[in-house]
Amino acid sequence: MNENESDIFQEMQTGDIKTFRAKLTAAIPDVGSKVLNEDHMGLLSIFFSFQRTMEGVRQRTPDANDWEKVAFDLETLIDLTERHFRTEEEMMERCNHGYLSAHLAEHHVFLRKLEGYRDALERKDTKEILKLKYDLFELFFDHVNITDMKFKDEIGRA
Ligand SMILES: [Fe+2]
Repeated sequence: MNENESDIFQEMQTGDIKTFRAKLTAAIPDVGSKVLNEDHMGLLSIFFSFQRTMEGVRQRTPDANDWEKVAFDLETLIDLTERHFRTEEEMMERCNHGYLSAHLAEHHVFLRKLEGYRDALERKDTKEILKLKYDLFELFFDHVNITDMKFKDEIGRA
């Protein structure tokens, strides 16, 4: 983790949500494609919505309404991520991106991780569901900031 990343991670753990949101938004890089940049911002807004719901859940016993919101965010997240990965993969294929198979493998692992939260949701396992924020953090830092950036100079030709 570099200094900026660990600062934002710390903010997610102990800081206030507003500061965290501003810092994370500012840390999302331009990956060289308008469509993909917009997708990343869309995913980010679901992350924030999930985080708001979970903050509430932590302070009281979750009711049916809370679970409905978490389920909605999770399904939206899975759906958008799937569509985003598909778009990105097609673009990488079109521009003959050199790291395609490694990149695809990361997408695959990430989607399986997201889908794994459906079980936790069914069990209403709050502790387990809270781990989703670490996966999302990893998506924006390790994946978008490192893996996606590898195609930045090529993707405009897709
Ligand atoms: Fe990607």
